[in-house]
Amino acid sequence: MPRIALYPGSFDPPTNGHLSIIQRGLKMFDGLIVAVLRNPAKDAVFNVDERVELLKGAVNGDARVKVKTFEGLLVKFAQEQKVNTVLRGLRAVSDFEYEFQMANMNRKLDPELETLFMMTGEDYFYISSRFVRDVARLGGDVTGLVPPNVLKALQKRFASK
Ligand code: PNS
Repeated sequence: MPRIALYPGSFDPPTNGHLSIIQRGLKMFDGLIVAVLRNPAKDAVFNVDERVELLKGAVNGDARVKVKTFEGLLVKFAQEQKVNTVLRGLRAVSDFEYEFQMANMNRKLDPELETLFMMTGEDYFYISSRFVRDVARLGGDVTGLVPPNVLKALQKRFASK
């Protein structure tokens, strides 16, 4: 049986931090399902379909990575996908409490579901989608923080600003 993990998130936009977790995750798993939450966030830069396309572009068509969307509870989606491992990146101390609560809540909802954390690499520990969004929106340069296709999409989106 191939070992598959679920890598969920908002990915608005996907960053090099996310890509690094995907690449490193593929050293431990045969495949990953990158699961984009369908959340109607007010300050979203990209809609969910755009995020899916950006993620697909960022992984360069690697067949081991499937990009899907989900709504509602993560545990339900994991069950539907017949996956019992969730992969999450952990950046700094500030991430810990939220991630700890989420992992425990998910395990309460489904005791079979394990959450596996990977420490974000030192080059990426300060990158967050929120800061990338804000900096790009305000005309700052996010080169090196996001995959090239995401950089292009951000530049296009904020070209007139
Ligand atoms: O990239 P993010 O925004 O940190 O990802 C958060 C995400 C999508 C993993 C989380 O919000 C989630 O799983 N949402 C689905 C709803 C859910 O299952 N909530 C209960 C877990 S506390």
